[in-house]
Amino acid sequence: MSAPLVKVLHRLQELFQNVVAALETMILLPSLFRGLGRRRRKPFLGTHWHRRSLDSFVEEVDTLFSVPLSTSTMIDMSEKIRAQFRHCLQNSPVCMLPSYTTTLPTGSEKGTYLALDVGGSTFRVALIKLNGREEEMEIVRVSSRYIDNSVKLLEGTQFFDWMASGIDTMLKDVGADYGRGDVALPIGLSWSFPIDQTSISSGLVIHMGKGFHCSNGTVGQELGQLLIESCRKRNLNVQMAAIVNDSSAALLSRAYVDSKTRMSLILGTGTNMAIHFPVHDIGRSKFGVRPDGWFDYAKNVIINSEMSMFGGGVLPMTRWDDVLNRTHMRPDYQPLEYMITGRYLGEIVRLIIVEAVETASLFGGQLPHSMREPYSLDTSIVAFIEEDSSTSLSSSAAFLQKQHIFPATPSVDDLRFLRRVCQVVSRRAAAYLATGIHSMWCLLNEAEFPEQSSIANLLIKESPEVIVTESDTAKNVSIACDGTVINKYPGFRDTCQGYLDRLSAHSHPNSGSAIRLESAHESAILGAAVAVAVAVAEE
Ligand code: GLC
Repeated sequence: MSAPLVKVLHRLQELFQNVVAALETMILLPSLFRGLGRRRRKPFLGTHWHRRSLDSFVEEVDTLFSVPLSTSTMIDMSEKIRAQFRHCLQNSPVCMLPSYTTTLPTGSEKGTYLALDVGGSTFRVALIKLNGREEEMEIVRVSSRYIDNSVKLLEGTQFFDWMASGIDTMLKDVGADYGRGDVALPIGLSWSFPIDQTSISSGLVIHMGKGFHCSNGTVGQELGQLLIESCRKRNLNVQMAAIVNDSSAALLSRAYVDSKTRMSLILGTGTNMAIHFPVHDIGRSKFGVRPDGWFDYAKNVIINSEMSMFGGGVLPMTRWDDVLNRTHMRPDYQPLEYMITGRYLGEIVRLIIVEAVETASLFGGQLPHSMREPYSLDTSIVAFIEEDSSTSLSSSAAFLQKQHIFPATPSVDDLRFLRRVCQVVSRRAAAYLATGIHSMWCLLNEAEFPEQSSIANLLIKESPEVIVTESDTAKNVSIACDGTVINKYPGFRDTCQGYLDRLSAHSHPNSGSAIRLESAHESAILGAAVAVAVAVAEE
């Protein structure tokens, strides 16, 4: 037989094996497939049915996660997401939410302010001293409380009572009478959830993600009031001076030191972007009731985009994403978030592990008991394994065995499989995030250079064969970014930056490195303090 013929036959055999393997998986694990009948009570059949090699399984995982990551596909997805942004800018009540912050800090604001930060996994109370742009902001004191699952399950006012007890403890540490005087102590709150802002210091609760139950029974109620009432029960005399979403806090904290800042990004437990955006490009109905004359002076306003809610129907999902989404407390609520953030990366990897144990003998075909529960594989493990570049992966093995009990020690092949899965899952996350950021950047370009954009659109319509570049209209931006994943996940930020460079070079040739990710550490507490300072200065 000739060599090319052997090759073709070999390919056909491989293809046939893959099809058989995929069919077997579909029969064994119907719960992993969208729309294939009802869910089985017992989705997995036990340990005797192991047909695939780990190698062929990981190849499939790699392919499924990598297919959407070509530059042209990502550009196409970015455009589709931009269409979603535009649509929601006109009328969505839960995303592209305009705040009341129109002007950015001048950098001359000074003073010491109390800042609260409700993040996805910590609650912090801090005293922040602003010394003006020339000097560093100072964290005079900070106390941190872990938000464990029992706190996340607190409903309605119970959660605010829990917050008030943390504030109480911190204030007592500062001084016995601090926060109990006749004059109410102004506080700024950074809130890592959507909020329907009704003034600079108030807003209505919107459904919260990240496993929090606090919005059960409080949706539509005034957030500041809920917290102040809980503080009153403890005789604390505090007054809400500013409420900001954590993405807006990041923007404010960076704008305080760099006046050119227009965009910010959070990637931790959740994800989001805030953007300083022209008011006239936002639907009037989105502003609710504004004070008289507000529209005369407000040229730009900070928007909390709730970017996590975008990408549905645009960003391809694998069967594991699909299981995660269908079994989620709020299916389809935050499609982008479910595929890229610290709360979910570990769970995606766990779902792949579960299938690999069942069908490809991972861990000798035995899933550790502790990994059976959803969300039992922490993203910190995924990050650890990805960072381990040794051939033996022995430190990964030790780390894994500290967190989970394995009937038999995982083999090197098991660990290599895991490392590859972690790399593939996190690379897609960085790429999807870059797609969202690129889309937001294009939205800002389009709003700030409307003439050029419409000329470009017209030219494209009239002569679709002509390649119209928007390079002259592109804006160089630095994006203030913060959050555990973007700060700490090994290589994540660089990978995301790489994708951003590719995307901007493709959509705006000659624009160079037009989008740059810049760290904005401690942005939630610093930004909340800046928000209070700006509010006080405007009074
Ligand atoms: C979630 C929240 C959003 C927050 C983001 C980052 O997606 O909905 O409000 O800004 O996480 O913490």
